[in-house]
Amino acid sequence: MDKFVISGGHKLKGTVSISGAKNAAVAILPAAILSDGICRIENIPAISDITLMCRILRDMGANIKMINKNTIEIDPTKMTFRETPNDLMRGMRASCYLMGALLGKFSKASVCLPGGCDFGTRPIDQHLKGFKALGADYNIHSGVINVKCEDNKLKGTHIYLDVVSVGATVNIMLAAVKSEGLTVIENAAKEPHIVDLANFLNCMGADIFGAGTDVIKIRGVQELKGVTYSIIPDQIEAGTYMAAAVVTRGDVTIENVIPKHLESITAKLEEMGVNVETFDESIRVFCNKPLKKCNVKTMPHPGFPTDMQPQITALLSTVEGTSIVNEAVWDNRFRYIEELRRMGAKISVDGRLAVVEGIETLTGANVSATDLRAGAALIIAGLSAKGKTTIDNINHIERGYENIVEKLTSLGADIKHVSDIFSNEEDVSGI
Ligand code: EPZ
Repeated sequence: MDKFVISGGHKLKGTVSISGAKNAAVAILPAAILSDGICRIENIPAISDITLMCRILRDMGANIKMINKNTIEIDPTKMTFRETPNDLMRGMRASCYLMGALLGKFSKASVCLPGGCDFGTRPIDQHLKGFKALGADYNIHSGVINVKCEDNKLKGTHIYLDVVSVGATVNIMLAAVKSEGLTVIENAAKEPHIVDLANFLNCMGADIFGAGTDVIKIRGVQELKGVTYSIIPDQIEAGTYMAAAVVTRGDVTIENVIPKHLESITAKLEEMGVNVETFDESIRVFCNKPLKKCNVKTMPHPGFPTDMQPQITALLSTVEGTSIVNEAVWDNRFRYIEELRRMGAKISVDGRLAVVEGIETLTGANVSATDLRAGAALIIAGLSAKGKTTIDNINHIERGYENIVEKLTSLGADIKHVSDIFSNEEDVSGI
């Protein structure tokens, strides 16, 4: 099993460029099958979730061409409906977007219940509520969801989401974009990747307005044309490198970002006493004074993102004082804290609250990534710790971070990707 091996204590310095947003790309790729032409998607992150999504789309009959590692051409024009209960779909949460995309294209879908990061229950009741409101019926049988609109034409409707859900907002948009009439989604998610998806669909000829607010209106259209589209930069990847720079008390400029998408992260770091300089498409993070503890509560956008919670908790475990982290989105997203404790972190957890007693220095240890952002948190802890940290289950990390070893190494980190087949931790990251 491959591992990352980190020798901590090196200040990160220099510049790093951010890749395309994973959570935008995994929504836009399935959305492309709604097109009546060929779509070329650029600035896609070269990560395993994308590889998996392309395999699923190919299995469903789409013609996928890799132009280069960050550009994909999708030709859905010869796709015919097929029931695709496919165990591949259990590899990630975003496979559930195939429900909305197939419903929007064929007025029916039959897909495996999705998988993804394990931090508590991950219901899809709001997705199904939206499909039903659009005129589709569904049943779940042997782990497969079958959704179908009997008269083959979904009809616009008014949906009030009981919880702010990124996935349900995406899926309802995909199902409604070629339906008859107007669909209104109230209490919609406002994340940057929701806006990116709406922009992509509108480039294809959709009629969606209000994305980025909590009311999204979708007027159904007959046809969506093939387009070329570039994915926005990944706000969570950017935030992860910001936290890595701060935990090493370094000085890093993060390029190819949309600063507006990072405002809640920037605000929290400035509250801790971090210096943040914002430019048009980059952001500089550096420390020149002792950091202060702070409290964090995760919320839907524009609140502090839950996908940055593990990373900021790892950072706070090295900041003097007592910080409280409140995970208000997921019911069990602190599993990684057991791993941080192996490194000497003093953190107690009670339900959705973590109480972090910052300590001077963490100590390197052998730890395991329990999910994607938990893995990022362990890297952040390892960069700061005294001695060597070995992280296994790095497949979780490779789902969402393109070239993380190369990017951190270019900033001065001592991190190696070690494969089990090599003895003595031979560095394989360049292979
Ligand atoms: C998306 O997951 C992201 N994944 C997650 O990022 C992210 O943590 C999450 O949004 C919140 O921002 C992708 O975009 C692929 P939700 P999703 O539906 O859509 C409840 C990462 O690290 N809920 O917004 O599954 C749910 O239990 C990943 O990149 C319902 O109750 O999240 C949760 O408490 C991890 N019923 C809250 O809503 C539903 O039908 C938010 O979930 C759906 C959700």
